[in-house]
Amino acid sequence: MNMAKVRKILKNNTGKDLYQHSLGVEKTAFSLALKHGADSKKASKAGLLHDYAKNFSFEELRSIALENDLADEVALQEPALLHAPVGAWLLETELGITDKEILEAVRMHTTGAAGMSLLAKIVYLADFIEPGRTHAGVKKIRKTAFSDLEKALLCAVGFTLGRLLDRKKIIHPNSVFFYNSLVSKTRSGDI
Ligand SMILES: [Fe+2]
Ligand SMILES: [Fe+2]
Repeated sequence: MNMAKVRKILKNNTGKDLYQHSLGVEKTAFSLALKHGADSKKASKAGLLHDYAKNFSFEELRSIALENDLADEVALQEPALLHAPVGAWLLETELGITDKEILEAVRMHTTGAAGMSLLAKIVYLADFIEPGRTHAGVKKIRKTAFSDLEKALLCAVGFTLGRLLDRKKIIHPNSVFFYNSLVSKTRSGDI
């Protein structure tokens, strides 16, 4: 399926704001992939489609996840987490996307995970820094993302975990593992 067709499907299935956000993530993931040596076509596609299930109700997400065994106990409590694995599953079953890297990037884009592929890291970060994002510190992280991907990721994950703690929201263990893996790299002098 070509990108024009994918965009059309997405435009018809999401609201204006989410569509704009998806285009922003597509563009940012493309640029990050070029900069950091990942597959820019895959990055664009994964970026464009990462929020495919974002507009689904909690009931819909839970029901698809339970029926197809897509999520663990923690993710099942939180729609903000569930839309990622459900989205990846729908892309495979509805749109026929079979590329494992693209599906992994979509599946992991909310929690992150230790040992994620470069493509998945790029989509995670693109979601955080796309041009429509305005949260505190985003300008600095946007700049760092093109010079030091791991450092920018550490800042993005740290910010996200802090916000979840402040709001008394659930934190998925994969996010903690992701954060720790980035801190370990800092310690070993990698960033
Ligand atoms: Fe998302
Ligand atoms: Fe997103």
